[in-house]
Amino acid sequence: MKGKDFLSITDLEPDEVSQMVSKAREMKNTGVPRLLDGKTVALIFEKPSLRTRVSFEVGVQQMGGTCIYLSPMDIGELGVREPVSDVARVLDRLVDVIVARVFDHESLATLAAETDIPVVNALSDLAHPCQALGDLITMSEVKGRLEGLRVAYIGDGNNIASSLALGCASVGADFVIAAPSDYHVPSDAWEEARRRAFEKESLLEWVEDPKRAVDGADVVYTDVWISMGDESEADERRRVFSQYQVNEDLMELADGGAVFMHDMPAHRGEEVSEGILDHKSSVVYAQAENRLHAQNAILTELLLR
Ligand code: NVA
Repeated sequence: MKGKDFLSITDLEPDEVSQMVSKAREMKNTGVPRLLDGKTVALIFEKPSLRTRVSFEVGVQQMGGTCIYLSPMDIGELGVREPVSDVARVLDRLVDVIVARVFDHESLATLAAETDIPVVNALSDLAHPCQALGDLITMSEVKGRLEGLRVAYIGDGNNIASSLALGCASVGADFVIAAPSDYHVPSDAWEEARRRAFEKESLLEWVEDPKRAVDGADVVYTDVWISMGDESEADERRRVFSQYQVNEDLMELADGGAVFMHDMPAHRGEEVSEGILDHKSSVVYAQAENRLHAQNAILTELLLR
């Protein structure tokens, strides 16, 4: 781990990503150390959450700690009621870890810079690294390996796509995104993913045609077309992405044993067909559970530093 915080997959060196996956899988079997005994974790959520909030609360409890959940109602948008730096300096005095879901990734950077305690990204506009780690755990469980897998991501080059591209590149899995040209992964994340893929001799590719992306894929992954914060562009996005639905026909074009993944919440009838979450290839609920194990491994690593 490069620093005291986990804001992006890039806070881990490429080899540390695989190590974190192995560690999480091990802790899934053996249980977690009680490193949070008598400690408090602040969960700041500017946006709604089911999986992230519950998995962090459960994980913190398993590690012996207590959570204080600060909802959008309590804290409002960071920086509006009071400067993010003031929130950071106050929490630094009172709690032991900050987990935050924010609109603007910069707020996370400020929380991290203004505190001595670990800050964990629970989703920002740019990244969702805990999700990507959980996804890699799921892939390694269901496919028995990560290196050499072909992961096809269909849809918006958003926070999920960025972290997944970085995660796959770090572990030597091929990553192909099918997205319209204006909805590509932001260049910072893409260039770093390219560097990592080069180092691991894996493939990193952007195509426009979803059929091309899923050809021979071991994993077919998608996320919503309208992320939290994109609501004002909803109509335009539904139009642009209308050919990017993952459905039974598209899954047919992937490898015979391919699995379907989605970070959820899923919008049936938009990025996914009605039945795909219940398709024989779907591993979405195992994927949701693995958020817990990924985060437990991350918290353990941060607390033992
Ligand atoms: N891209 C989605 C992910 C939700 C977990 C969003 O940011 O809303």
